[in-house]
Amino acid sequence: MKPPLPEVIKPLPPVCPAEQVSDAELKKYAELIYARTGIRVSPQKKTLLSNRVRRRLRKTGIKGFEEYFAHLKKLTPADPEWDAFLQEITTHETYLFRDESHWTWFRTQFLAQCASEARAGRGTRKLRIWSAACSTGDEPATIACCIADAFSACSPWDVTILGTDIGVGALEQAKSAVFGERAMRLVPRDYSRRFFQQAKDARIWQARPVITDMLRFRQHNLMHAMRDGPFDVVFLKNVLIYFDTDSKRAVLENVRRAIRPGGLLVAGAAEGVSDLVRDFHRLQPWLYRRPE
Ligand SMILES: C[S@@+](CC[C@H](N)C(=O)[O-])C[C@H]1O[C@@H](n2cnc3c(N)ncnc32)[C@H](O)[C@@H]1O
Repeated sequence: MKPPLPEVIKPLPPVCPAEQVSDAELKKYAELIYARTGIRVSPQKKTLLSNRVRRRLRKTGIKGFEEYFAHLKKLTPADPEWDAFLQEITTHETYLFRDESHWTWFRTQFLAQCASEARAGRGTRKLRIWSAACSTGDEPATIACCIADAFSACSPWDVTILGTDIGVGALEQAKSAVFGERAMRLVPRDYSRRFFQQAKDARIWQARPVITDMLRFRQHNLMHAMRDGPFDVVFLKNVLIYFDTDSKRAVLENVRRAIRPGGLLVAGAAEGVSDLVRDFHRLQPWLYRRPE
């Protein structure tokens, strides 16, 4: 008979007892995520969810998936650990001037028309824009660049661009208005020179006050009614792809109410909303007008 292993070389108990969440745990996590965000986690995402939760187990020292779930359920949306979990399970991919056709329309049609009406003495010289699910602020910064350029020769406009996201960490980064090389790669050279200050190491760009003065940020869950507004234009891009049809409907109704009559909705091309935006006039596959 082999002698028992001496204490020192006995294998250590694993930090996380299971490799993956069980089917029952996956269901509970998915229900909680859906109830709080509208995001659907499919059974195919089991490995992904397990890996992401495991990272939180390592950070928090909580032992298993079941214990972490019990902890998570008690947290309010304002709790830093809830936000850290949310950061793990949501996609924050974004960069300036993403989806070229939207910005071409915004500059050459929408803003050009605003400027020409102002020159003719018509209109209010006031713009309210909402970048819904703005992640780290690249989309609101893009909107601000286009506006700063379009109105540079006009007398002052009253412009507010509100960026909202469910993720507090993403919004903290958005507020800093600092962008890296990858985020800046599609910014026209003329814009990066005029609207950003390049850091000495040349890899970081800080938006100048001409941009940041237009920007406001706050946390907002798209599943809830929007208390600000009404907005002239709402950008809702690359977020509803993670939602099911019921959640998309709920979000679109919240967004519709926040747009002024005659105002516009710019939706991401892959958003899957074309069958759901019945209360809007469709101008492009990604552009909708709320009826007057
Ligand atoms: C891929 S980013 C899109 C960023 C930007 N709109 C763009 O197109 O580049 C998706 C963002 O949606 C946010 N998000 C997910 N669910 C949300 C919800 N229920 N309410 C508000 N934001 C949400 C995430 O935190 C993430 O920052």
